[in-house]
Amino acid sequence: MYIHPTHPLLQSLVNTLRDITLSPLVFRHTIKEITKILLYESLENFPLRSKKITTWKGEQSVDCIDESQIMVVSVLRAALPMHDAVIETLNYSISGFLGIKRDEETHKSHLYYDRVGECSGKTVILVDPMVATGGSLSDAIEIIKKKGASKIISLNIIASPEGIKSVESVYPDVMIVIAQIDERLDENKFIIPGLGDAGDRAYNTL
Ligand code: PRP
Repeated sequence: MYIHPTHPLLQSLVNTLRDITLSPLVFRHTIKEITKILLYESLENFPLRSKKITTWKGEQSVDCIDESQIMVVSVLRAALPMHDAVIETLNYSISGFLGIKRDEETHKSHLYYDRVGECSGKTVILVDPMVATGGSLSDAIEIIKKKGASKIISLNIIASPEGIKSVESVYPDVMIVIAQIDERLDENKFIIPGLGDAGDRAYNTL
């Protein structure tokens, strides 16, 4: 299933990203702001667990999210600012990284790096700003499922209608939180209107 929050602040921030004159610093910063809103939406019904803490009045039990049961996994490399944003908020969560790259000719994604630990019983928050064909996200979900995640939440900024449909139809149990769904894919499988290459824009690569 997917959730498509329509808050004006979220929509405005995403549309700001479309401005190609943004510096890499502002581009990454805006991605982080968007990610925090998506994270907030995604955890709306997340269970709280009682834990003992030391307050100024002594030991007390308080209700908190058990961050040690959350793993944040990013798809290199455009997702790195999103990854930072999530672990700034959930700073006791565990991290994992997947290198998945789309072939420029065939547009098929392939895995070149897997640094995700075993995640049985954990909630995995998967981050990637772009869902074009949906191939990279589907590959990432498949890998994480094999490692035993009990729940997968996917935070994404812009998707094509085709991409989101293809992932959702194969993985209806994954909660996809998507900020905007654009018009279509072009003949090179780029999202239209999209953002351009998010990884290049975030890190000024050539
Ligand atoms: C981009 C993007 C997604 C993927 C989406 O990464 O960050 O991971 O493409 O395309 P898909 O839905 O058709 O699979 P890219 O493959 O360009 O990797 P890079 O950031 O390392 O260049």
